[in-house]
Amino acid sequence: MTTIPVKDAWKQGALLSEADYAAWYRRSVEDPEGFWGEHGKRVDWITPFTKVKNTSFAPGNVSIKWFEDGVLNVSANCLDRHLESRGEQTAILFEGDDPADSRAISYRELHGEVCRMANVLKAHGVQKGDRVTIYLPMIPEAAYAMLACARIGAVHSVVFGGFSPDALGGRLAGAGSSVLITADEGRRGGKSVPLKKNADRAVEIAAKAGQVVSTVLVVQRTGGDVAVTPGRDIWWHEARETVEASCEPEPMGAEDPLFILYTSGSTGQPKGVLHTSGGYLVYAAMTHQYVFDLREGEVYWCTADVGWVTGHSYIVYGPLANGATTLMFEGVPNYPDASRFWQVIDKHQVNIFYTAPTAIRALMGAGDAFVEKTSRKSLRVLGSVGEPINPEAWNWYYKIVGEERCPIVDTWWQTETGGILITPLPGAIALKPGSATRPFFGVKPELVDSEGGVLEGAVSGNLCITDSWPGQMRTVYGDHERFEQTYFSTYPGKYFTGDGARRDEDGYWWITGRVDDVINVSGHRMGTAEVESALVSHPKVSEAAVVGYPHDIKGQGIYCYVTLMTGEEPSEALKKELVAHVRNEIGPIASPDQIQFSPGLPKTRSGKIMRRILRKIAENDFGALGDTSTLADPAVVDDLIEHRQNKE
Ligand code: WT7
Repeated sequence: MTTIPVKDAWKQGALLSEADYAAWYRRSVEDPEGFWGEHGKRVDWITPFTKVKNTSFAPGNVSIKWFEDGVLNVSANCLDRHLESRGEQTAILFEGDDPADSRAISYRELHGEVCRMANVLKAHGVQKGDRVTIYLPMIPEAAYAMLACARIGAVHSVVFGGFSPDALGGRLAGAGSSVLITADEGRRGGKSVPLKKNADRAVEIAAKAGQVVSTVLVVQRTGGDVAVTPGRDIWWHEARETVEASCEPEPMGAEDPLFILYTSGSTGQPKGVLHTSGGYLVYAAMTHQYVFDLREGEVYWCTADVGWVTGHSYIVYGPLANGATTLMFEGVPNYPDASRFWQVIDKHQVNIFYTAPTAIRALMGAGDAFVEKTSRKSLRVLGSVGEPINPEAWNWYYKIVGEERCPIVDTWWQTETGGILITPLPGAIALKPGSATRPFFGVKPELVDSEGGVLEGAVSGNLCITDSWPGQMRTVYGDHERFEQTYFSTYPGKYFTGDGARRDEDGYWWITGRVDDVINVSGHRMGTAEVESALVSHPKVSEAAVVGYPHDIKGQGIYCYVTLMTGEEPSEALKKELVAHVRNEIGPIASPDQIQFSPGLPKTRSGKIMRRILRKIAENDFGALGDTSTLADPAVVDDLIEHRQNKE
């Protein structure tokens, strides 16, 4: 496998050298107290911490605390402390869906808007510890809303704007939010997204689940015609005129919650990942600075949505804590055409660009001409996140987009980890296409076999992390037992990531993908159990089993085996109906790619569905089904193979 050594140009002015990485890493794992005690000072503390690390992965007693006696405010760290030195610098560079629509928001303006929104929330009774749900498009108000919550100590729960009313309703109820912040409509690829309409339905669904939403703050984005419920709905543009542009930041304990973010797991409904204030901010800011080798005055662009953790850590909190200029893009990669990303890079002279493999593959498929007609000379560092990047896409990104001038940082992490854990550093770590390379400071990865035995040397296995880092999630909101069960019970004493990985002879890490029933569709994480439960909620469906299969653009596609109720007939029309049903229940990101009607599913005699077999059939790899002798009825397999959908 080719290695790309750190180029001299990447070393020029770099924050860290190869020797620095080695020394810092060694210290970070040998003396975490000393290392993090020092780097914890990168944020402003109202009351400095005296304790650094107090963490345990011990079975039955998982507890994670960092900087626990420190007091700070996250929004003050992202805003107030920059006002003197960089008040007029652009904090958020907004690029609308329509290429004619862009604007720059300075740190001073951002501070004012955040304070105003904080005051509006306060005026509607929001207090420290209350949960506020945010369902917004990619507009600056999404950042205002998050930072406004942080300012007054409210806990935000951002729900991706592509989720359905059902999904939003469930999350409103799960978080116990009585306040929702949304917009009239979103704009994506020239089309409107009916956010307020969805929000209205979600509020009804939440009410049925016992959660009353008493305030809906509505941002006017398109001016589209939307229903307004008097006494409940407030227009942001009206409310902001009634409040002051200053608001004292609430002093928060380092371990006070900052946000909840729902994410899919291998079983059950999505869980609320809880992140707290101090450790999260230190880790998000530090990784953002070193992983992207951030320089003063640069323009940084992460194309994620604020509805995902990448948007939290690397559009809002990390960049703003670092006083960077962060670009927020409302649109999609192929609107008006497949040159959009590269045109935006030229327009705003973007230096650091961070996107997902699925976008890279889609744009690669559109042809090089869309890239080559743009300059991209401003680019210095390229990043990738969300799923394994195949070497072909990596090489295209490196050669065509970056013209071999820019290092690619392939950053591996998770909603749960709060920030990047395994990644190259531009001036310090040689690259291998497809490898996330080396652990960040303080991160101790380990490979274990299925019995939990620790694997040494160049080997593949299940990826665990053996000690805590400051950005780690603290609990599943309202369910600490589920937290322990999900992450610390498979391999007791270790955080189990759910990913498989390989360590090569140079100690480089290659993430191979999920080893559990979580699938990754276009970088969106989904539990197969969620899609199954959406399918079986359809009156004609008796049973469903969902697996991922390789998909050229999306990384993985969603393959559904569906058993119908007795008397129901399979048809193309019913397939369409089921696709629409799943979109309705979860959202468009969960649209099934393949539906196979199957009279029977392969089950063991004890009734357990053998997903391994279903995966193989979906992958068209049924030559090697492995041991089928434990099946209750081996004949179902032949029928499944015969009627498979993914024939190539
Ligand atoms: C899962 C986490 C964390 C940002 C976005 C996704 C996969 C993420 C990589 C990468 C290979 C990756 C893993 C992980 N993943 N980044 N660079 N290489 N796989 O967050 O939705 O919590 O998903 O995404 O499978 O477990 P998420």
